[in-house]
Amino acid sequence: MLPGPTNVPERVMRAMITPTINHRSDDFVELYEDAVEKTKQVFQSSGDAVCLSASGTGAVEAGVINLIKKGDKVIIPVNGEFSGRLAQMLDWAGANVIKLETKPGQNASFEAVKEAFDNNKDVKAFYCVWNETSTGTMINYLDKIKNLTSRNDSYYVVDGVSIVGGEELQMDRWGIDVAMTGAQKAFAAPPGISPIVVNAKAKKYMNENPPKTMYFNLSRYFKYYEESKHTPFTPALPLLYAYREALDMILEEGLDKRIRRHRICSDALYSGLSTIGLTPFAKEDARSTVVVALNYLDGLEDKTFRNTLAQKFRVLVAGGFGNLKGKVFRVGCMGEVHRYHVMRTISAIGSTLEMMGYRTSSMNALKVAEEKLKVL
Ligand SMILES: Cc1ncc(COP(=O)(O)O)c(C=O)c1O
Repeated sequence: MLPGPTNVPERVMRAMITPTINHRSDDFVELYEDAVEKTKQVFQSSGDAVCLSASGTGAVEAGVINLIKKGDKVIIPVNGEFSGRLAQMLDWAGANVIKLETKPGQNASFEAVKEAFDNNKDVKAFYCVWNETSTGTMINYLDKIKNLTSRNDSYYVVDGVSIVGGEELQMDRWGIDVAMTGAQKAFAAPPGISPIVVNAKAKKYMNENPPKTMYFNLSRYFKYYEESKHTPFTPALPLLYAYREALDMILEEGLDKRIRRHRICSDALYSGLSTIGLTPFAKEDARSTVVVALNYLDGLEDKTFRNTLAQKFRVLVAGGFGNLKGKVFRVGCMGEVHRYHVMRTISAIGSTLEMMGYRTSSMNALKVAEEKLKVL
């Protein structure tokens, strides 16, 4: 129940033992083209997809260095570790970064974003971390940003690592120019492949203004794909096979069904764990449907709690980041998560708390969760 890497289905694991092929062969073209096309379906984009052999940070960094030049003005909401990192990358790329900072657990309001656009007509791009994995918050106005970016023809870039595939994303319709994720999150694939999807407008800019880097230079990937459906560098072949298999599983389930499952499971986790007596960390209007962050009860020691949960019940959850270390823990609700995982997690957390001397109402919590899960 980590917020990544998540459980990988056996079918996806097995795909990795496919013999290593020549990445300049027809077999590779079949594999890579299929992965690219299916990635675009998940992102709901008619643009170009590049499946980078890298962790999510690689795709995020590619989304920065291929678009941002020295002095470019950029707006970004910052409310946790990953939005902080993205703001740092933008700064390192030479951007004039306008940070809309809010407390962890809260999001910049749409009005605050609009005001920043009103006050900065020359803004080149809006960047955001859709799901701030470190605090369990999720921006829920992605579909409205287009009205702002289209006014002054700025780019719209979404770090969707930890949420794409688990929540609704309509890149084309919402006017998103660039978005990325990591395979180890809601795609339920092993870590190591991170897709970045780029629309025609951003691709044109990237081709005309390539960065002075080799590995994350996206124009190289576009060129190779157009010429031969290859990648410029040797890809992580076993991981690509697994990634393609995971995409097949996503599309077989159906995007709508999958998103509904994630929403129902997180609703059941929030309700059940609240009934136990734990309070969600994020403000209600900012709560993520894929990462459930909870405040620790007074005196509840992080390491002991998580170790007991792992050793006695084999349920893994994550701790907090930075200032939130020891104050919150995070339950991933991604990828394979289903009724079984939700019920087992609530039951294990309840029992762990009891073992540590807290009185809980686990039975009620399970009933509340079960009720929510009935519609699955
Ligand atoms: C929102 C977000 N962005 C970026 C990253 C970085 O991904 P990775 O650790 O795969 O490099 C993460 C990882 O959890 C994340 O949650």
